[in-house]
Amino acid sequence: MLNKLKLYKNKKVFITGNSGFKGAWLTVFLKELGADVIGYSDKIKWEKSIFDYNTINSIKQYWGDIRDYKNLENAMLEANPDFVFHLAAQPLVIDSYENPFDTFTTNINGTLNLLDIMYKKFSSVPLIIITSDKVYDNCNNEIKKFSETSVLNGNCPYSISKVICELISSSYFGIRKNMRVRTVRGGNVIGGGDWSKNRIVPDLVKSLINQTTPILRNPNHTRPWSYVLDTILGYLLVGLDAVNSKKSFDSFNIGSLDNENKTVLEVTKLFLKTFDAKNIKIENNNKYSEKKYLNLDATKARNILSWSSMVKFDELILQTANWYKRVLKNESPYHVTKELTKDYFKLINKKDRIYA
Ligand SMILES: NC(=O)c1ccc[n+]([C@@H]2O[C@H](COP(=O)([O-])OP(=O)(O)OC[C@H]3O[C@@H](n4cnc5c(N)ncnc54)[C@H](O)[C@@H]3O)[C@@H](O)[C@H]2O)c1
Repeated sequence: MLNKLKLYKNKKVFITGNSGFKGAWLTVFLKELGADVIGYSDKIKWEKSIFDYNTINSIKQYWGDIRDYKNLENAMLEANPDFVFHLAAQPLVIDSYENPFDTFTTNINGTLNLLDIMYKKFSSVPLIIITSDKVYDNCNNEIKKFSETSVLNGNCPYSISKVICELISSSYFGIRKNMRVRTVRGGNVIGGGDWSKNRIVPDLVKSLINQTTPILRNPNHTRPWSYVLDTILGYLLVGLDAVNSKKSFDSFNIGSLDNENKTVLEVTKLFLKTFDAKNIKIENNNKYSEKKYLNLDATKARNILSWSSMVKFDELILQTANWYKRVLKNESPYHVTKELTKDYFKLINKKDRIYA
């Protein structure tokens, strides 16, 4: 597996949204593989982000709004990438209700700008667009696993924006057959370096810092939790598929394959236990609806990409908790992330040897 990924060595990889949670892990992973990473983001989002304005200078970094076509185009022309990963987005469901216009323009226009630039200037360069597990028609809230052929449909501004990203991505492939576009529908990702509002792990960390009792909105909701490094591994394997397969367009679910679909309460209890804490409060003003069940079928990724999650549920919670503990003791977020990525490489190597 690690050998396969060495194809990224010395390749110019353009990442939008590289200053955010997953974009930063992707950047670190690719740097460790020896890729030449070029970033495009609008800002550093948080005080203890994986990259700060100093460490991000270890790569070629462009700053700008993804909605600014000319600025994005100039950056891409200068970068002349071999691969493009698109993560820049407004990624939060609740924010999308509070600011639908910003969500729609960032997510839809940003993706459209990128697709159009690729279509005109880099049509054969692999483009991997990260959408969401929320693109599937979940209106009936059924207990089922969505596969890539399930019907797409959104029910909040965020999910609608991501469905539209899916549709415009597949329509560009219809126009130019040599394009290599892939969409990736990922689950709720857990890992250090996420400080977003209204996501379970960052909310727990903030309540631990502020010594307040964490409030759970929906303790019994289930999600396809997946560890950030397993998710990044999936993205990179999708990138290789875009090079190796003759298909112009395809989509993959990268969700929890081996990890059971745990509830919010199970995640919470295990995470708090690592901090010797246990008090929680359950409170939901039901202002915005969130689906009770959500699960993904990642069989296609296993069969075609040979992807599987490497880190079991208990271990991913432990590693994530340790990331926050170390960073709260003032270790550099970037260095902790780099260390965990190197450990993950060892894990991949070990599994490669077992299954060789
Ligand atoms: N984290 C998850 O659990 C999850 C689950 C499913 C899908 N996703 C998707 O994965 C991608 C990354 O998510 P994340 O959790 O890392 O988000 P994040 O908020 O941590 O990072 C978003 C990145 O996009 C950049 N960005 C936002 N608006 C921009 C704009 N207008 N112009 C330029 N850059 C802009 C931010 O600066 C940041 O670098 C998103 O597309 C998101 O929808 C995330």
